[in-house]
Amino acid sequence: MGIFNKKNPPSRNAYAVVTGAGSGIGRSFALELARRGGHVVCADINLDAAQETADLIQSLTSSHAYAVQCDVGIKEQVQALSEQAEQLLGHAVTLVINNAGVGLGGKFDEVSLEDWQWCMHVNLWGVIHGCHYFVPKLKQNGGGAIINVASAAGYTAAPEMTAYNVTKSSVLALSETLSAELRSANIRVNVLCPTLVPTNIMKNGRLPKQYSGLADQLLMNHAFTTSDDVVQKTLKQLDADRLYTIPQPDAKLFWWMKRLSPQIYTKLLGAGYPLFNKYIKKAGAPS
Ligand SMILES: NC(=O)c1ccc[n+]([C@@H]2O[C@H](COP(=O)([O-])OP(=O)(O)OC[C@H]3O[C@@H](n4cnc5c(N)ncnc54)[C@H](O)[C@@H]3O)[C@@H](O)[C@H]2O)c1
Repeated sequence: MGIFNKKNPPSRNAYAVVTGAGSGIGRSFALELARRGGHVVCADINLDAAQETADLIQSLTSSHAYAVQCDVGIKEQVQALSEQAEQLLGHAVTLVINNAGVGLGGKFDEVSLEDWQWCMHVNLWGVIHGCHYFVPKLKQNGGGAIINVASAAGYTAAPEMTAYNVTKSSVLALSETLSAELRSANIRVNVLCPTLVPTNIMKNGRLPKQYSGLADQLLMNHAFTTSDDVVQKTLKQLDADRLYTIPQPDAKLFWWMKRLSPQIYTKLLGAGYPLFNKYIKKAGAPS
């Protein structure tokens, strides 16, 4: 269906915009799309980091890459990005990857409203803005594809991650709705829901002191995957016209547990939470 087919999948020869392209999963998306013959606008709030990704693409591939500074939570900046992208690429955008995101943790009653707003600004408004400004352009050009980077946090409901979980479950709902609504406009949607991926998210995030080192250690040493692997799986799912990318075994396990019995799942989570706290204490962190 639509403008894509097996010979012309959305991940090949794309004219793409990737937000949060200066690090981690965003950088992996940008590089992989370039390896597949695509040209990429690398957008990030950190222009130097976006430029590094664009330089890497230029040095490793024959694709064109452009760095643009953009705070995805500011609508005017995303609108400007949507206009600038077409000019830079010299072509209509065919693939938008709303990836930029930040981490926030802490007990519900200890997280400030300012931190809630910061998390919503990037993780939720960033994706809403990306869809809002690019969907009309994709429609105008006869179709295209969108990848929204959510997280397994969108359905796992893990304690002490309320704000992050709320933003990611919203991105999941947004993506599911858009997938149905945009199908007849030849726009494919995929939503990526990984568990741990070793990136800079913990270092850049806002976490209670007692967790920050530990969380980063856990992420870097115990993740079952790499950002490159997650990206390959996502592009495969997109090309196969599938909505969900649940890339790791633990992400799949939580997905099925939650779907089979949300009630039992949530009770187990509540029962396991004190054990998690014990583990944190045993790991030697001050509480
Ligand atoms: N790493 C994980 O374990 C994991 C798991 C599930 C989901 N995710 C999601 O993956 C996405 C990418 O995160 P990552 O792990 O690669 O983290 P990362 O910190 O390595 O990269 C995030 C990038 O987003 C940029 N960014 C932050 N705020 C921005 C803003 N307002 N506007 C534009 N760019 C901004 C940062 O500068 C950085 O380059 C996020 O949406 C994150 O929630 C990550």
